[in-house]
Amino acid sequence: MPLVTTKEMFKKAYEGGYAIGAFNVNNMEIVQGITEAAKELNAPLILQCSAGARKYAKHEYLVHLVQAAIEDTGLPIALHLDHGADFETCKSCIDGGFTSVMFDGSHYDFKENIEKTKQVVEYAHAHGVVVEAELGQLAGIEDDVKVAAHEAHYTDPAEVEEFVTKTGVDSLAIAIGTSHGAYKFTPDQCTRNEDGILVPPPLRFDILEEVAKRLPNFPIVLHGASSVPQEFVKIINENGGHMPDAVGVPEDQLRKAASMAVCKINIDSDLRLAMTAGIRKHFNEHPDHFDPRQYVADGRANIKALVAHKIKDVLGCNGKA
Ligand code: G3H
Ligand code: 13P
Ligand code: ZN
Repeated sequence: MPLVTTKEMFKKAYEGGYAIGAFNVNNMEIVQGITEAAKELNAPLILQCSAGARKYAKHEYLVHLVQAAIEDTGLPIALHLDHGADFETCKSCIDGGFTSVMFDGSHYDFKENIEKTKQVVEYAHAHGVVVEAELGQLAGIEDDVKVAAHEAHYTDPAEVEEFVTKTGVDSLAIAIGTSHGAYKFTPDQCTRNEDGILVPPPLRFDILEEVAKRLPNFPIVLHGASSVPQEFVKIINENGGHMPDAVGVPEDQLRKAASMAVCKINIDSDLRLAMTAGIRKHFNEHPDHFDPRQYVADGRANIKALVAHKIKDVLGCNGKA
């Protein structure tokens, strides 16, 4: 099975009322944890790399790790560039074996976003690669750059048809209240439940519904869709970490989005928490250990369990490979 694009995956996901998980990968153990879970559950996968991942692990290593995962699992896997900042970055991934790229022009004005996205679409489509674009802007951390809450803005549904028609994109990321990172909402945006855990405001499903009405059968993407599992935050905090008031998107809302027009759900922060919780706990319990295979394996096991849970209970894509 070679790398695939997301075209067929999204068509089936849209019709079936489920979503594909797009998991960020940065090293071998992250790739293994994700793909071992997907293999056991026969789930299609998108593995995505940010500019930061390409800088950290190098492009060729990432491509070969993902190819090894395909050989190992036999699963349909798409390799996607996450948040491509410019044409050159997208081109380098298209030329370098990726099957999908995101051009993120969300910080440009509408007209400029269309022009720049269109340029990427033309090159990508000529090479058999699909393109995701973004309208509206999420808050949070992206590639170490913080987009403040006051700079973020929801997607305007009135713009989506013109954007998709003029650019020719294959999928569209929209802003409906998610944000990047492990601190998605400030305490004053939330209420607290009886255990003192922050409860965030609901996503703007009205915007998603309106976008879906204007773009029938068109795959929508949700960025910033980690749920920040509190069990991992607790383990981190109990084992020398300090992550007060980390909070994510409630999983029931992600499940609802997956049953609607959302076909791709981006998860990175939850993988980081899973890995960090595993390693911190391991160090605390085994202060004498110094072999990375011992402690990184615990992070990888946490990632596998997390991804299995996402596939079954949030995305609903088990058995769909
Ligand atoms: O959307 C951003 C992703 O979480 C990637 O993060 O740029 O730190 O690799 P990164
Ligand atoms: P999280 O920070 O919520 O995991 O979002 C990841 C993401 O959107 C990658 O593009
Ligand atoms: Zn993102």
